[in-house]
Amino acid sequence: MAILPIIEAPHSSLKRISAPVETFDDALKTLVADMFETMYDAPGIGLAAIQVDVPLRVVVVDLQEPDPDAPVEECDDHGCGHDHRPAKRNPRVFINPEIFAPSEELSVCNEGCLSVPDIYADVERPAAVSLRWQDVEGNVHEEAMTDMMATCIQHELDHLEGILFIDHLSRLKRSMALKKLEKARRAA
Ligand code: NI
Repeated sequence: MAILPIIEAPHSSLKRISAPVETFDDALKTLVADMFETMYDAPGIGLAAIQVDVPLRVVVVDLQEPDPDAPVEECDDHGCGHDHRPAKRNPRVFINPEIFAPSEELSVCNEGCLSVPDIYADVERPAAVSLRWQDVEGNVHEEAMTDMMATCIQHELDHLEGILFIDHLSRLKRSMALKKLEKARRAA
């Protein structure tokens, strides 16, 4: 496995439309494993292949929500009082994913993106969607997605169409976000 470099806006590849996966081989499994390692290392909760400059319709997601069964650990390290329950790993891979039956109800979520580091903005999307996708063996699955998963999957599927979450913002807010990103990059 390998940690792959994540490309950042305004890299031109992020505007590419990703191609369907047609061959479910070992190279695909390696790509998926590398994408998980890259996402966990970043750290992030979702990654589309184009973010590592591979224009294929492959998405990995792990919301890494706190494990409800784990005991709440008191933080004696730095006395911050945070909930230090370990995140429960739930790696999901979606190949050739397609959304259908989006809900009429919308929800707003404060989104961020590993390709737009340190920028966060509210984006309104359908609150629930259904998803059809293939796994690494090519088997087809369907599932209704709600809450954080619905938001995350819509954000990741946008990447496959060359769309970033900041593209959902007004032109003014988007240019402010890109300027902030450019400024941070120059300072680094
Ligand atoms: Ni993203």
